[in-house]
Amino acid sequence: MSRFWRLRSGLPREGPGSDESTRKALQSVAASLPEAPRILDVGCGPGMQTLVLARETGGHVTAVDRHQPFLDELNRRGARDGLTDRITAVNASMSALDFPDGGFDLIWSEGAIYIMGFAGGPDTLRSLTSSCLRPLGGITTTHRSNGVSTRQRRTSSDDATDE
Ligand SMILES: C[S@@+](CC[C@H](N)C(=O)[O-])C[C@H]1O[C@@H](n2cnc3c(N)ncnc32)[C@H](O)[C@@H]1O
Repeated sequence: MSRFWRLRSGLPREGPGSDESTRKALQSVAASLPEAPRILDVGCGPGMQTLVLARETGGHVTAVDRHQPFLDELNRRGARDGLTDRITAVNASMSALDFPDGGFDLIWSEGAIYIMGFAGGPDTLRSLTSSCLRPLGGITTTHRSNGVSTRQRRTSSDDATDE
């Protein structure tokens, strides 16, 4: 493992935010979710938000990242928290996602949308995931701005709005 990844290993999370900010963003879309939603978490890292999503929704989270040690850490945390059955960690690139049509109720990407470019990232993500997102399913992304705050942008499959 390179020095860069060695330095990063063991951190609780890889992006800005907290369990509380994940819950807050989740609450803003909760009304549109079915019971036990199927969620795709893109760029999950070691998965702090994955755990919150699985725990708070009672649904199932498919968590995607391309750095296997993060996925191993997520699996370890999921087992620790009794969430193994509700989290599937997948090693894949966010720009080459291949999931069944309509397989998800919500696409989530926390602190990772910048990889696709924050301005166009949600739209890029929407086009990459349009077939696996159920009709009217949502996309939620968070991004740190000005070093202090978290911005949320949510797009439905019909329109795009800043909240
Ligand atoms: C800033 S971290 C955010 C991780 C996590 N969401 C969090 O908030 O702790 C960005 C993540 O995206 C992953 N990543 C980078 N490029 C990727 C790609 N092309 N496909 C999938 N994951 C990628 C990195 O491995 C890293 O875990």
